Amino acid sequence: MISNDQQKFQAIISHSKEYGFVFQSSEIYDGLSAVYDYGPWGSELKKNLREAWWNEMTRMHDNIVGIDAAIFMHPTTWKASGHVDNFSDPMIDNKDSKKRYRVDHLIEGFADELVKAGKTADAEQLLATMDSLLAANDFAGVKQLIDAKNMKCAVSGTCNWTDVRQFNLMFSTQIGSVAEEANEIYLRPETAQGIFVNFLNVQKSARMKIPFGIAQIGKAFRNEIVARQFIFRMREFEQMEMQFFIRPGTQQEWYTYWKAERMKWHTSMGIPAENYRFHDHVKLAHYADAAVDIEYAFPIGWKEVEGIHSRTDFDLKSHQQYSGKKLQYFDTEINQNYVPYVIETSIGLDRMFLLTLCHAYHEEKWTKEDGTDDSRVVLKIPAKIAPIKLAILPLLKKEGLPEIAREIMNQCRNEFYCFYEEKDTIGKRYRRMDALGTPFCITIDHQTKDDQTVTIRYRDTMKQERIPIEGLVDFIKSKF
Ligand code: GAP
Repeated sequence: MISNDQQKFQAIISHSKEYGFVFQSSEIYDGLSAVYDYGPWGSELKKNLREAWWNEMTRMHDNIVGIDAAIFMHPTTWKASGHVDNFSDPMIDNKDSKKRYRVDHLIEGFADELVKAGKTADAEQLLATMDSLLAANDFAGVKQLIDAKNMKCAVSGTCNWTDVRQFNLMFSTQIGSVAEEANEIYLRPETAQGIFVNFLNVQKSARMKIPFGIAQIGKAFRNEIVARQFIFRMREFEQMEMQFFIRPGTQQEWYTYWKAERMKWHTSMGIPAENYRFHDHVKLAHYADAAVDIEYAFPIGWKEVEGIHSRTDFDLKSHQQYSGKKLQYFDTEINQNYVPYVIETSIGLDRMFLLTLCHAYHEEKWTKEDGTDDSRVVLKIPAKIAPIKLAILPLLKKEGLPEIAREIMNQCRNEFYCFYEEKDTIGKRYRRMDALGTPFCITIDHQTKDDQTVTIRYRDTMKQERIPIEGLVDFIKSKF
């Protein structure tokens, strides 16, 4: 049973592997650091989360349309976006272990130890000092702070540090068939730029009027130096981003609107509001005039799951300058041409997946009526995003019960994801469905043959009742 949050996190990682949610990439070759594969139920859950976001953005907002841009982009894109010059993290190396750390992670780790030792005020003071030094790009000051606190490398145990230096996080590769002709290009570190360079294509072809948004879901790649904490920080991950194009001067109003709108979506996913909080950025990215993170209380602490950024006209203006093409909008309401301002919402799909698992994972223990103990691991995933909605379980493998179960399966499988299982005792099958987060199981027994009813078992309460087969599809659908 779980005794603390770190152990809960480890238990979630093990559960993910055992039940086919997430595997380490290339595991048979000892894995590839910070790269993960999604298994049968993980890919289904991820697809449901992706769909929930996509439907919310594109179907529920008349003025947002989607695109699917390529991962490779012209290399000048990244010069214009500022990623070539600015997309770097301050790092420090330990000279003895040769291990490289992101300085904010090193200092945050030290602050965590202070909290564990009961020195919460010291930890808060340390983090506030770090924030102000990083906001001022004062790397010498950060180095002094690390030295003054005698922060040690976890591998060598020494305080023998290099100076703080910046490292670019973009992956590069070559495009072109012959080495001499090859050009260096980057794997996109964010999906947003595919939206900016298509701003006019979309605005004109879909006849959009400001204010309007463009949404996109896709892979992004970052050579994260300190990649740990499972799928929280990956080198290949998926983003769900939306750029909302607005009239200059209205950014404060739309920034407030999107903060509220996105928080509403998070709580609509079945996660209570007290598990979320806003965290304003102290150090703003090169493109932003305001930025906030939506953080979730993960077992590893409060961590960012989504960013909302007021990006001004930085990106469009910069692409205009580098490409020599006008990226402007004629606003008929005010008879003016301008480069629109942008509010961005950017959420990591893998982080949303991790959040869903962390919230859903429960280890339960109870004493049964006969006095014996029982326990289970259950994923209380909201029914609308659960990988399997309904498990169809004939009590026996004979006496016509599988045939009836198969018939029910054929009625339901077009409507939602169903799973048929006839192996093992019914108790074991229920436990397995709990572990996969299946909200409803139905059992077909001898009574079914007499009165065309089945037993439905509810995952969260474990309560059971009999319901007619007729109307089953609508009954299950009404639950999500
Ligand atoms: N276009 C803006 C942008 O990319 P960001 O704050 O760097 O902003 C947005 O990233 C979101 O992408 C984060 O809130 C997080 O959920 C996700 N994300 C960023 N880096 C990640 C990584 N290495 N692994 C997994 N998710 C990541």
